[in-house]
Amino acid sequence: MSDERREDFEAKGLVGGHPEIRAKTRRCVEVEHSSFWTPLESDSHATALRQFSAPGPLAVEIGFGRGLFLGRFAMQHCDWHCLGVEVKRKLVREALVRFDKWGVVNARLLLGDARALLPPFLEKGSIDALFILFPDPWWKKKHHKRRLLDAVGLAPLVPLLKDNALVVVRSDVPVVLDLARIALPAIGCELTDGPGLELPVTDRERVCDRIGIPSQELCYRFRASGGA
Ligand SMILES: C[S@@+](CC[C@H](N)C(=O)[O-])C[C@H]1O[C@@H](n2cnc3c(N)ncnc32)[C@H](O)[C@@H]1O
Repeated sequence: MSDERREDFEAKGLVGGHPEIRAKTRRCVEVEHSSFWTPLESDSHATALRQFSAPGPLAVEIGFGRGLFLGRFAMQHCDWHCLGVEVKRKLVREALVRFDKWGVVNARLLLGDARALLPPFLEKGSIDALFILFPDPWWKKKHHKRRLLDAVGLAPLVPLLKDNALVVVRSDVPVVLDLARIALPAIGCELTDGPGLELPVTDRERVCDRIGIPSQELCYRFRASGGA
């Protein structure tokens, strides 16, 4: 990767650095699983990812954590192809263990920042549903550039959304919900009453419910002709 390109990605605030660079410098144990793909490192994984995402309907969850939502969603919607992207390797491993236990067959996982990993491999207009559930609020000012829910953070993902795609945000952090209320209409999303399909709970949501922290769900439909 050229210095110029590296600076460009760093300037966008990718979480964990660019996945291509991360792959070359990592020292930890590899994840080996047929549902885990590293498309930046393997041409066969890149091809598999393109083939998996092409027929659709395609659901993408960014930051799936331990995978409760993605795994349950995949099981409830067997006709969907489900793709999860997560920056933490340990969580990818945990989700794979869960998916094996539950017999999930229609979900695939990628490790890295979704904003760098998805655009090279997914067709434009291929995502039917995008889930950003309890995203990190990145409280510190110097970390704000890592936030997904602003116009800059979402920009690489917008071309991947199909017209009328469902976009769902959930959070227990009012600032994050406020950011979503500004950023999503700015990229052409219209608020709707509900998702129109059954959606499971997430791990973070389960904790919030247990300890009495209120959270909220915002559902949008992407209009390809809309946006600023
Ligand atoms: C607060 S956790 C919520 C996990 C899960 N969605 C839940 O509700 O239980 C946010 C997750 O998003 C991941 N994450 C943050 N930014 C990301 C990005 N740009 N691409 C992929 N994953 C990201 C973090 O590693 C973290 O696991």
